[in-house]
Amino acid sequence: MSAPAPSKLAYVPFVSVANMMRLINRTGLSKMLTGIAAYIEEDFRRWELFDKAPRVASHSDVGVIELMPTSDGQVYGFKYVNGHPKNTAEGLQTVTAFGLLANVQTGYPVLLSEMTLLTALRTAATSALVAKYLAPEGADTMALIGNGAQSEFQATAFRAICGITKLRLYDIDPAATQKVLRNLSDQGFELTACSSAQEAIEGAQIITTCTADKQYATILTDNMVGAGVHINAIGGDCPGKTELHKDILSRADVFVEYPPQTRIEGEIQQMPADFPVTEMWEVITGKAKGRRDARQITLFDGVGFATEDFSALRYLRDQLESTGLYDALDMIADPDDPRDLFGMVRRAGIEGA
Ligand SMILES: NC(=O)c1ccc[n+]([C@@H]2O[C@H](COP(=O)([O-])OP(=O)(O)OC[C@H]3O[C@@H](n4cnc5c(N)ncnc54)[C@H](O)[C@@H]3O)[C@@H](O)[C@H]2O)c1
Repeated sequence: MSAPAPSKLAYVPFVSVANMMRLINRTGLSKMLTGIAAYIEEDFRRWELFDKAPRVASHSDVGVIELMPTSDGQVYGFKYVNGHPKNTAEGLQTVTAFGLLANVQTGYPVLLSEMTLLTALRTAATSALVAKYLAPEGADTMALIGNGAQSEFQATAFRAICGITKLRLYDIDPAATQKVLRNLSDQGFELTACSSAQEAIEGAQIITTCTADKQYATILTDNMVGAGVHINAIGGDCPGKTELHKDILSRADVFVEYPPQTRIEGEIQQMPADFPVTEMWEVITGKAKGRRDARQITLFDGVGFATEDFSALRYLRDQLESTGLYDALDMIADPDDPRDLFGMVRRAGIEGA
């Protein structure tokens, strides 16, 4: 007699890299970024009901491995993500990730997904969403400093959400800039390759820094930053890993996701513990002001917070039924008598013999 087939709950929808790429290509990158940004915005509006904690980081000499959990009371989620700036020199990526959603009522997982691609999308969607609230009106030019894995996603999100059409590119490795020129040549941008960060920021109303270096780097110094710009600084996201000279922080109004995490990981780790910041959920819900005037320097000290991954996974889960772009993964052991896990193994042994 064969044991009953596992219940439906034992099979967890799994979105592989291949299916994620199909979803992006079928949906269109711009539409998917806009869709994810809407979910992130919705979750910022419900900020107060989320479980929040700085991510759990395991540091080594060469990088970091992090877990990012959160819950809205109905659904629990977490992401596994690493950051290893030396990896690209070895033919590996700086950042890889996967994540999961689970039902809070049963504890059973309801979605497992690749998140290397999804992290690039959610990071870009978050940056552009934030800029929608903070960037100067009519901005059409962005400096993109650091032309690695995140950069084209940032560019596409800023075009879709903020109307950026001109990109000024700089990377210490010219090959990275050449890659962006190739990838974005038919995407309707006016593209300019620059030979320094200083040159890249000329005429840009938005400055995105997405470099990777495991040290206190100074991509921008205070004298480079003129009045009225919005800085989207996403590469400084670890203790000892920053991109901006601290004098810029003193001159700018700094906006963050979750202060307890950003004070550990963000640009503001260079500042005293009571350095004033504004939380983005307060700007999005209208509790706090975003940009006040045309001369103000706004700075998004983005490190990436668990709710943004939760939102991206929620978006993904809502696409599964209509697209069918997932596999059912036999992931949860599910004995017909829930207390007879042992018996299930025994029966499988007899059947398999
Ligand atoms: N805030 C977030 O939510 C978030 C999310 C994902 C990644 N990140 C971070 O963003 C950064 C970029 O990630 P990635 O996946 O694109 O990394 P990547 O390694 O693919 O690209 C980084 C690029 O930065 C360039 N670079 C390094 N130092 C530079 C300098 N001084 N000036 C100009 N360019 C320089 C490198 O040559 C490389 O091309 C990383 O630090 C990563 O940890 C942040």
